[in-house]
Amino acid sequence: MKAPITVSVTGAAGQIGYALLTRIASGSMFGPDQPVNLRLIEIEPAMGALEGTVMEMDDCAFPLLNEIVPTCDLAEGFRGSDWALLVGSVPRKAGMERADLLGINGKIFTGQGQAIAANAAPGVRTLVVGNPCNTNCLIAMNNAAGIPNDQFFAMTRLDENRAKSQLAAKAGVHNSAVSNLCIWGNHSATQYPDFTNARIDGKLVTDVISDRAWLEGEFISTVQQRGAAIIKARGQSSAASAANGVVDTVRSLTTPTPEGDWTSVAVCSDGSYGIPEGLIASMPIRSDGQKWSVVQGVELDAFSRAKVDASVAELSEEREAVKDLIPS
Ligand code: NAD
Ligand code: LMR
Repeated sequence: MKAPITVSVTGAAGQIGYALLTRIASGSMFGPDQPVNLRLIEIEPAMGALEGTVMEMDDCAFPLLNEIVPTCDLAEGFRGSDWALLVGSVPRKAGMERADLLGINGKIFTGQGQAIAANAAPGVRTLVVGNPCNTNCLIAMNNAAGIPNDQFFAMTRLDENRAKSQLAAKAGVHNSAVSNLCIWGNHSATQYPDFTNARIDGKLVTDVISDRAWLEGEFISTVQQRGAAIIKARGQSSAASAANGVVDTVRSLTTPTPEGDWTSVAVCSDGSYGIPEGLIASMPIRSDGQKWSVVQGVELDAFSRAKVDASVAELSEEREAVKDLIPS
């Protein structure tokens, strides 16, 4: 039997937490032979609800679940953590942009970054889901002294999955036929789902879908606005698909990327593609199962370049807005 992996999940009593915990404990995230310890972090008022979630987890009798620790203490919650999944934060309501949450949620990630640095395993990898996730990740990373920047990620995989599903439906193929789909920039209404480099059954999307006006217009706006459309329809933000995005992100970072393909996750920019160093921006990533790297040489035509630049400019503005939360 392998040694258990320790996974900390903040906001564990929330909607995404509810959908995510069973996926982790059942083996979807780390595989069918990998035991897990779960350290579930909530704020004090939600500890009663968390107790109920833990009761349900007990009632699943998961063979791979080794230990489950509910807590509202950050030191206890991140102790020995190999993966910190930062979900806990306030979701937006209809009519809001995700960046409107910065003032409410941003400060959560200073203390969590510090607690991760002080308590987690040295190799801990942190994935931020709570919105606005890129800039919250930037705050956590900059407050986690001693933890390398390449161990921080923000989630754009849900956007990648949404984009693949839209392209597949338009082309009349299964979504597994779509590859090389990169979400560039911010998990926001400026994100750019890059159809110019995406492929369907190995062919360029632009050779399969001839409706360029749809690709440049409705396709992009549908992906950019999908979160808002779900909030409008459900009265609550995405949860099952978000939890699935978390599982997919961690699996993609911990298993080798299929030959020739890439995946989307927001990482700390090293200046690739002219994205200012230090911003947490989504770009094409490959993993060898242990280490990840930015895929170089993806061509951005003038249309794509303008879209990427607009989203990156928004990230720079968000960084400016939270500069007080970032130690110099
Ligand atoms: P929710 O309101 O159902 O649950 C959030 C939970 O976080 C609550 O239980 C709350 O008590 C807890 N919480 C609040 N502050 C906390 C703190 N300081 N420490 C620990 N826990 C805390 O919300 P949800 O639907 O689960 O969404 C959570 C976040 O994820 C939101 O910010 C939402 O916008 C975001 N989200 C991101 C993506 C993405 O693709 N990146 C997708 C969906 C949702
Ligand atoms: C999403 O994309 O579904 C989430 O970021 C929630 C939201 O506020 O849109």
